[in-house]
Amino acid sequence: MARYLVCITGASGAIYGLRLLGALCAPEAEGRELHLVASTWGEHVIREETGRPLEAWIEELRERRGTRITRHAAGDLGAPIASGSFRLDGAVIAPCSMATIGALAAGAATNLVHRAGSVALKEGWPLVLAPRESPLSLIDLRNLATLAEAGAAIMPACPGFYHRPRTIEELVDGFVARILDRLGAANPLARPWLGPANDQGVSP
Ligand SMILES: Cc1cc2nc3c(=O)[nH]c(=O)nc-3n(C[C@H](O)[C@H](O)[C@H](O)COP(=O)(O)O)c2cc1C
Repeated sequence: MARYLVCITGASGAIYGLRLLGALCAPEAEGRELHLVASTWGEHVIREETGRPLEAWIEELRERRGTRITRHAAGDLGAPIASGSFRLDGAVIAPCSMATIGALAAGAATNLVHRAGSVALKEGWPLVLAPRESPLSLIDLRNLATLAEAGAAIMPACPGFYHRPRTIEELVDGFVARILDRLGAANPLARPWLGPANDQGVSP
């Protein structure tokens, strides 16, 4: 059974992590085991940007059949996902704040997001980071380079527009689909680029 971890931190763009969780919970993904950690500021930003607390989102996702989703507290450094013996098929931090990028790059794990990300790096498991900040300081850029050198996939939260998204959800899903591809997870959002669309917006 495939086992994935999704972490949501306090960068803007909580919708990326929430749509990713939704895609990983899709009915096609029956039997998948999902783990979730939101940092303290991740929870704040979810409420700020969506008007709903994380609990409400989780409840909605749990109603979908076939996928087990386990939420861990950000302060619980004793959770199974804090150990390399609890194998993951992939971990994603989306959105990822510069504070979390800094902690990961420094190897300073003071919460479960940092620890689980560090474990993915040391074990060589796929780790996708979706940082969001603008502009990026030289420190941010150096931290991102350090993490890329350590094996993380840096996928900045900047979605493409060439699929002609009509809603924010479609825009976000275009980016989430790329994360799923990177994880090697079955992708219910897959819509590969087939070349430029015609005037009616239809690809060949
Ligand atoms: C509404 C809001 C939006 C924020 N957006 C960003 C952002 O886009 N990028 C970022 O790096 N930090 C952002 N922050 C600041 C982080 O939340 C803050 O640095 C926090 O310490 C991150 O901690 P965490 O990584 O443990 O979640 C934002 C904070 C708030 C309240």
